[in-house]
Amino acid sequence: MVQVSGYHDVTYMSVAVRSFAKINIGLRIGGNRADGFHELRTIYQTIGLADIVRVDFGRGAGIEVYCKDPRVPSDETNTCWRVADKVLRSLKMRGKVRISIEKNLPVQGGMGAASSNAIATMFGLEKALKQQLPPEERLRIASEVGSDLPLFLIGGTVLGSGRGEQVYPLEDLPCFPCVVATPEIGVSTPAAFAEWDKKFPAPAKLTVQPASDKMSTFSQSVYEWLSGSSFSPTGVPENGWDRAEALLLDLVRTGIENDFETVVFPKHPAIREVKRALERTGAKYVSLSGSGSTVFGLFADQATAEKAALSLMDKDIPAKATATLPRNRYWQEIFKSSS
Ligand code: C5P
Repeated sequence: MVQVSGYHDVTYMSVAVRSFAKINIGLRIGGNRADGFHELRTIYQTIGLADIVRVDFGRGAGIEVYCKDPRVPSDETNTCWRVADKVLRSLKMRGKVRISIEKNLPVQGGMGAASSNAIATMFGLEKALKQQLPPEERLRIASEVGSDLPLFLIGGTVLGSGRGEQVYPLEDLPCFPCVVATPEIGVSTPAAFAEWDKKFPAPAKLTVQPASDKMSTFSQSVYEWLSGSSFSPTGVPENGWDRAEALLLDLVRTGIENDFETVVFPKHPAIREVKRALERTGAKYVSLSGSGSTVFGLFADQATAEKAALSLMDKDIPAKATATLPRNRYWQEIFKSSS
């Protein structure tokens, strides 16, 4: 945090926050609800790639959002704007808020960047104002602004249910080397849900498998996955890299998948090709993240992940090697100075 002596003898605060991305390890789409949203279950996992969100607070009025990327809106449709407005109202504070977003993460890429930027704004503004919202107020604001915001109030490995906004911290997964590949194809999440409804109209969904059954299958798969390695009769160690590798193998074995692949791949075959390309690089588990277009791969070692990212880039597929970000690291890194 930088304390600056501003004009008109006002002291204002400038706070930089790292806004980390997430991936979805499995995502199950359930019934269409009365409010138009879909019931879902997913495991969110934060990863080491981040945007930087700078929040300035000073005398005046209004909320301004700046980003060099023209696809990021600067008006009240921006999730950061909406969160800043709600935080000020909740704290009954007045002033001028300036939010600058340094973009490294893809826009509309399925990595929750806009949602993460919004939570970074909340944290930055709280710090600039030297105030802290009560946890339930943070959660209320986050879930009002979007289904994918609350997970960033927890970080690490998080179970998402409801429309995705009901979040529960899970025991953190070990840190997995990870490659994210984001083909330059914008996938709209509402359009992907609409496509799902077209493909699986409600009556058919019910005759095939009731939505609640689909949800309990997800719960069973997750239980099977997360208990398999620790209690393996073959004696796989409960800690260390052997456990991490066993977890990756079990993840594939239990068949935890992202339902969005069923509708996004036929519409955008190029994204399926990216999944195939990542599978060929030695990734243990490959999946679409959210509704895409990001496809991620989890690896058994960092060197293979780095090589995989390079080989995708050779094929003109934008790709980055990183690692999953456990909860304690997420919180350590959020306010770490970046400049
Ligand atoms: O909550 P969020 O703003 O991310 O949702 C964007 C849109 O995605 C919603 O307006 C809705 O059309 C769709 N959606 C959905 N079911 C969910 C989450 C989002 O249908 N669980």
